[in-house]
Amino acid sequence: MNAIGNISTSDRYERTVETSKRVRWDIEKDVIRGRRFDTTHKFLPDGLSLVDAFETLSAGEKRFVSQIQGRTYANIFGLVERFINAKVLELSHDHWFGDQVALEALVRFSDEELKHQALFRRIDAMIGDVLPDGYRFDIDPNGVARAVLGKSTWAVLGLTLDIELFTQLHYRRSIDPDTELSELFKDVFLYHWREESQHAIIDELEWVRVDATLTAEERDRAVDELIELVAAVDGILQIQAKADATYFVAACARAVGEAEAATIDAAFLKAYRWQYIHSGAQHPQFGKVLSSLITEKQGQRIQSALATLQ
Ligand SMILES: [Fe+2]
Ligand SMILES: [Fe+2]
Repeated sequence: MNAIGNISTSDRYERTVETSKRVRWDIEKDVIRGRRFDTTHKFLPDGLSLVDAFETLSAGEKRFVSQIQGRTYANIFGLVERFINAKVLELSHDHWFGDQVALEALVRFSDEELKHQALFRRIDAMIGDVLPDGYRFDIDPNGVARAVLGKSTWAVLGLTLDIELFTQLHYRRSIDPDTELSELFKDVFLYHWREESQHAIIDELEWVRVDATLTAEERDRAVDELIELVAAVDGILQIQAKADATYFVAACARAVGEAEAATIDAAFLKAYRWQYIHSGAQHPQFGKVLSSLITEKQGQRIQSALATLQ
């Protein structure tokens, strides 16, 4: 039995398999459905793009910002899903000769992440078809995955749970009433979240399982590695915020001075930190699982590291 409810761990893996089978979707048939992106729509909802932080921009420019962020959303997910999938395949090894339902849960998880990467490549290309040239995303998913996988499994699973929980919040923000929001992008949030919900449960089960094998010293080191991973994610977000601000300034059809360009860069970074770090770190389930594994002092270390990323 685990701490959450009265369901056994084995039953929880089984439920993820059942749900995974029930909600399974196809990129073209279910998500895209022959549609194209329309630049009169916002791609990310205001609650994620934090458009209010882009104080100097017109309504049309703010819409362009949401479209740039939508393209970066696809690229960032494609990137993180590379290391998540590699870690899931590695973890599946522990179940080869054990619980075959748990093994199936991880195999489906991996299969879904491969599909999600294909979805996000498709979305990136489709947005590229309708936005001005010059967008750049130069961060190599394989290089990032190699660096991430150099950290302990405990730390990688902590980061992964954070990521997979925030897809739920992102979906919720996308269904906030907003008639200007792209129906196609809303479906990306909806379908992605439907499969990510199972991933978040599996992350938690695997994190707790791996945690039980660690000594107090190993766990303490892993807490530092989780902090290092979050800082590495932030480094990626800083690079991309700069790239997206530069692209905006080059493509927005008016002169933007240096001071305003700096505020646009800062606003992109604020939005990306919210989307990819804080929206997961503040998720109640993340806090609940994390605090069940670590000491209060270790929790304070994580919180003060997060507080520097504002
Ligand atoms: Fe995914
Ligand atoms: Fe996932």
